Amino acid sequence: MDYNWVKIAGSLPEGKELIARNTVAQLLVQGKRLYLANFDGGYYAGDARCPHAGGAMDKGWLNEKGQIVCPLHRFCFNLETGQNTDGEGFSVQTYPIRQLPDGFYIGFPVRKWWFW
Ligand code: FES
Repeated sequence: MDYNWVKIAGSLPEGKELIARNTVAQLLVQGKRLYLANFDGGYYAGDARCPHAGGAMDKGWLNEKGQIVCPLHRFCFNLETGQNTDGEGFSVQTYPIRQLPDGFYIGFPVRKWWFW
């Protein structure tokens, strides 16, 4: 998949993290409200609006399995795939985060449109 990479933060001093370890924060990028999660030093992002009923995923938390928990009805979602892990069948759009020497970037999928 192709991505448009958007810089969200500059590089950090050794040992510093974007947000505290094992927490979730709000991330605003290009008018999109997202969540940013730090699970054991790895960063994950996704849409802040829960696909179940619109709960604020950016106000959620991480459980012991490293899943993000929606605060409204406590459905859990895989940080990488966005799949709901309790079987309710919901999926939240996730976005990769990558760290380069000059900072952190989030990848938005490039949408391809085909016209006939
Ligand atoms: S709104 Fe997120 S679990 Fe219901």
